[in-house]
Amino acid sequence: MEADAQRLQHPIITDLRTGSLSKDLRIDRTDRTIGQMQHVFLDEAARGLMDAGRVVYSVECWRPVEEGTEGGLFWGNTTVFPGAVGDEYFMTRGHFHSLRNRAEFYITVSGTGMLVLMDAERRASIQEMSAGTTHYVAGFIAHRVVNTGDSPLTLLACWPSDAGHDYLPPNGKGFSVRIVRESGRPKVVAQP
Ligand code: NI
Repeated sequence: MEADAQRLQHPIITDLRTGSLSKDLRIDRTDRTIGQMQHVFLDEAARGLMDAGRVVYSVECWRPVEEGTEGGLFWGNTTVFPGAVGDEYFMTRGHFHSLRNRAEFYITVSGTGMLVLMDAERRASIQEMSAGTTHYVAGFIAHRVVNTGDSPLTLLACWPSDAGHDYLPPNGKGFSVRIVRESGRPKVVAQP
């Protein structure tokens, strides 16, 4: 192996209790804040009143090969923090893979939530998430993670290094369901 590959592919540590990855220069960390999530939640007025710097979710990613490499894999985690914009629970933006046939595994480490899955015809389905639930996200399926609990929802993920991300457009052609809090409980509502 070349020196660079050896460096990138040297093992990291995944903390199986928390889902966090080694403090290591090879791990990319990204926060998504309220201020960065324009038109993702339905209630833009409610979002506008919130602290723009508040973190909705954070991501750690290990790329042992270059982005776009065919046949490689990436490893990472996502933590969606508890909260809501209006009555809509905190969630990830959600995406299709740019290469539509690429699949992905999700493993819930802690917290409770819902995995929203949707095909190209906007037919949606929901999978409940709690510690240990292991989800196969098939190719051609958009996916989004929603925290419906009171504690952080953390998952580990493994996906192909050439999958890419194709985020859903905000209005009209986004996810066909939203997860809202009604009388303190999550409810799935249609989003035309
Ligand atoms: Ni994905």
